[in-house]
Amino acid sequence: MNLAVIGAGYVGLVTATVFAKFGNKVWLVDIDEKKIKDLKKGKIPFYEPGLERLIKKNTAKLFFTTNYKEAIPQTEIIFICVGTPNRNGEVELKYFFSAARSIAKNLKKPAIVVIKSTVPPGINKQIEKIMKKYTKVKFDLASCPEFLREGKALEDTLNPYRVIIGIKRKSVADKLLKLHQKISGKRLVCDTASAQLIKYASNAYLPTKISFANSISVLCDKFGADVNKVMEGMGMDGRIGPDFLSAGLGYGGSCFPKDVAALIRLAKKADYNFEILKAIQKANQVQIDYFLKKIVRLCGGSIRNKKIVVLGLAFKPETSDMREARSIYVIKGLKRRGAKVCACDPVAISEAKKILSGVRFFADPYQALKGAEALLLVTEWKDYRQLDFKKIKRLMKSPVVVDGRNIYNRKRLEKLGFIYEGIGR
Ligand code: UDX
Repeated sequence: MNLAVIGAGYVGLVTATVFAKFGNKVWLVDIDEKKIKDLKKGKIPFYEPGLERLIKKNTAKLFFTTNYKEAIPQTEIIFICVGTPNRNGEVELKYFFSAARSIAKNLKKPAIVVIKSTVPPGINKQIEKIMKKYTKVKFDLASCPEFLREGKALEDTLNPYRVIIGIKRKSVADKLLKLHQKISGKRLVCDTASAQLIKYASNAYLPTKISFANSISVLCDKFGADVNKVMEGMGMDGRIGPDFLSAGLGYGGSCFPKDVAALIRLAKKADYNFEILKAIQKANQVQIDYFLKKIVRLCGGSIRNKKIVVLGLAFKPETSDMREARSIYVIKGLKRRGAKVCACDPVAISEAKKILSGVRFFADPYQALKGAEALLLVTEWKDYRQLDFKKIKRLMKSPVVVDGRNIYNRKRLEKLGFIYEGIGR
């Protein structure tokens, strides 16, 4: 099939590459000239395991352009994958509407326009109206929200838990089901508003699990329980499930914080006060203060002028993405308390430099830890799971380890002479 994908971000680039892999001819359109120029040279704009290789393997079927005219006229299915960022709690739709207008202006034959961007449920009528101003050609609007995780984007797109197909006409569903044939996972065909709400509801429910685990972690500290065991035990109940119950510093990234905020706002506009989600947001914030208080206590009541090393800057491992990374809030809190902050990350340092000032960055954690008075584990990169703590003990001035992701073995560290605390264990 001839396809077009609008937007060369995570979702768009991965979607285009996967459909090209399955033998379709795919045009990827983005208005960012530099991005398209780089992509033509095989350079991808972010770090995502396996993606660069898969793009290179499929260059014969993948075409990059900034020009809608080149891409749209010959395509049967067009995916809109542009960002819908948060602007003061509102969903920013200007890129989305602009993409819809540009598609409409260039339609030459009937096509299905599939919305993958996260948009407010029920918005299709408005989009249809806008597009009809610019074209007389028939088109169908469908909604197939994307659920990929950064760092696992290819795996999640090739083997998702489910493919949601929101449509108005059955024939459109049949065509989209056919297009997704080689992708595994369950299928759900529904109306477009439900498809759009499935996305928001999922991206609000997973943070609910995380914030719940984090709140229990505080109780674990108070009652002398181990949150990892508590969550393992809870997760054994099939109705609860073991996923997204890792307690620690809370959730960040480009989706959860944005989508929780957007759903609260959308609910408010619909005259519903979504109290549960407000509490989830709050719990995510206070977890940072809880962590900072622990650090100050373990450092003898003050961290003023003390060298503190933060391990991990990206919002999670296997990505260079710093959006809403917990490290930002931790580091700001440390600096407010007068600490001298050093930070390490295997790939996110250049991104972090754009956001954080007054921090010394190190690629090598051992280099950073010389003379340090506390080691804080903030992002659980594989490199930081396998550190040589015997060596670290010799390097640090004061052997305090505060584990924001509960990955280290307390007994082992205490045996080596460290003062260790996780969160809730
Ligand atoms: C998420 C959703 O998983 C994905 O389905 C959606 O489409 C986009 O948002 P992503 O933001 O890439 O994906 O990351 P994810 O792996 O879900 O982690 C999000 C945040 O939650 C990270 O900061 C992570 O550290 C945190 N997290 C995750 C926890 O704190 N505990 C957990 O148990 C799981």
